[in-house]
Amino acid sequence: MKLPISDTAHLRALRRSDAEELHALIEANRDRLRPWLAWAAEQTSEDTAQFLMEAEAQRARDEGVQAAVVSDGRIAGVVGCVNFSRHHRSTNVGYWLGAEHEGRGTMTAATRALVDRAFSAWDLRRVEIRAASENRRSRAIPERLGFNREGTLRHAEFVDGRFLDSVVYSVLAPEWG
Ligand SMILES: CC(C)(COP(=O)(O)OP(=O)(O)OC[C@H]1O[C@@H](n2cnc3c(N)ncnc32)[C@H](O)[C@@H]1OP(=O)(O)O)[C@@H](O)C(=O)NCCC(=O)NCCS
Repeated sequence: MKLPISDTAHLRALRRSDAEELHALIEANRDRLRPWLAWAAEQTSEDTAQFLMEAEAQRARDEGVQAAVVSDGRIAGVVGCVNFSRHHRSTNVGYWLGAEHEGRGTMTAATRALVDRAFSAWDLRRVEIRAASENRRSRAIPERLGFNREGTLRHAEFVDGRFLDSVVYSVLAPEWG
């Protein structure tokens, strides 16, 4: 899988051999990921290797993908399917970017490409994105892509010592495009 998202960036499936580069990006961005992503505070290099093994297994089962966002040949971030269900024909999408890649529309384009794939290659019915109510940049992505805001799950997550409210967004296949 190689999905172009701009002249200089594309998505491709993450693989075990990405462990070193991906973990270095996590280390470099740990302080800005920590307030929003529960795994970020404690993620070890072994955890990153384990995540990549699970990502390969997920892909082998054809249950969505954990994709590297590759920009100018380097991993800039990750966008991937979480809680993918063939039965319900649904998935959640999660994402993060390294600081130096923020502010250029890269993750909006990456998410658009993954949602396209969800409705075409995987024939899903629903794609959901959850973002903390205070996470303006994350919420802007489903809003920019025309997702529907469905509601707020109060104190849905405990991250970095705080309970976060989650805003739930979704788009259905007939609404996309
Ligand atoms: C969430 C996150 C991926 C969003 O990154 P981002 O850079 O804001 O998102 P995009 O790459 O889509 O870029 C959008 C920005 O680029 C600008 N932009 C420039 N060209 C653009 C284009 N062609 N299309 C869309 N936006 C464009 C937008 O105006 C926006 O900037 P602004 O918010 O200053 O107005 C990033 O902030 C992050 O990794 N945060 C930490 C981890 C996290 O919170 N993950 C989500 C948990 S739910």
